[in-house]
Amino acid sequence: MKLLMQRLSLSALCTAALLFASGQSAVAAGDAAAGETKAYTCLGCHGVEHYVNTYPTYKVPRVAGQHETYLVAALQAYRSKTRSHPTMQANAANLSDQDIADISAYFAAKGSDYAGSDSADGGAISTEKGCAACHGPDGNSTTPTFPILAGQYEDYLVQALQQYRSGERQNAIMGASAKLTDAEIAELAAWFSSNESKLQYVK
Ligand code: HEC
Ligand code: HEC
Repeated sequence: MKLLMQRLSLSALCTAALLFASGQSAVAAGDAAAGETKAYTCLGCHGVEHYVNTYPTYKVPRVAGQHETYLVAALQAYRSKTRSHPTMQANAANLSDQDIADISAYFAAKGSDYAGSDSADGGAISTEKGCAACHGPDGNSTTPTFPILAGQYEDYLVQALQQYRSGERQNAIMGASAKLTDAEIAELAAWFSSNESKLQYVK
C-alpha cells in the first residue's frame, strides 16, 4: 500500500509537469477516432500478433494499452531520429504533432480490459535492480512517461535492454540503469513479459 501511494504521488507529479509543458504547444489533445484512420498503415506490423521484425529478429512491440504519453515520446524520438530503427523512422517521418497525438490516443485506448493488480508479489529482481521504482515491481508502471513492460514480448525487452546498454538507444534515465549482464537482462525480460497488463497487439 505504501509503495502504491509512492507510485501514485510520483505519477501525480509527472502529470503536473506534463500539463505545464503542454501549455506551450498548440497541439490539441489526441483524438482516438482520427487516430484510427491515421494508424491504418501501422497495423501491417502492430496489428499482427507475434509479428517478427527482421535483422535483427525480435517481435514488433505491443503498443495497444501502452501509456499515451510514452507513445508520443517514442514516435517523436523516431521522427527526430534520436531513436534508431530505420523502418520506424520512415513510418514516423511524415507524422505531424497532431498525427502523433491522435495515433497515440488511439493505441492507448485499444488495450485489453486488464484491471490491474494490487499484489506486487515476486519481482525480486526488478526491485533489486531498481527497475520497480519506475516501472512497478511487476512492470505495470502507473507513471505515463515510464512504459509498461508487463506483458510486452520477451525478445523485444531483451533487444531494448541490449540497445540501452550498447548506447544504440539513447536515454539518460535508462542508460544509467542498464549496466546489466546478459543473464540479468534475460531474467528481467522473462519476469516482466510473464506478467499480465493492458498491452496487446492492436486489434
Ligand atoms: C514494418 C513494420 C512496422 C510498421 C509498418 C510500423 N512499425 Fe512501429 N515498430 C516496429 C518495430 C520493429 C518496432 C521496434 C523498433 C525498435 O526496436 O526501436 C516498432 C516500434 C514502435 C513504437 C515504440 C514502442 C515501444 O514500446 O517503445 C511505436 C510507438 C510504434 N512502433 C508506432 C508505430 C506507428 C504509429 C506506426 C504507423 C505510423 C508504426 N509503428 C508502423 C515495426 C513497425
Ligand atoms: C528512473 C526511472 C526508471 C528506472 C529506474 C528504470 N527505467 Fe526503464 N524506462 C524509463 C523510461 C523513462 C523509459 C523510456 C526511455 C526511452 O524513451 O527510450 C524506459 C524504458 C525502458 C524499456 C523500453 C521499453 C519499450 O517499450 O521500448 C525497458 C525494456 C526498460 N525501461 C527496462 C528497465 C529495467 C529492466 C530497469 C531496471 C534495470 C529499468 N528499466 C529502470 C524509466 C526507468
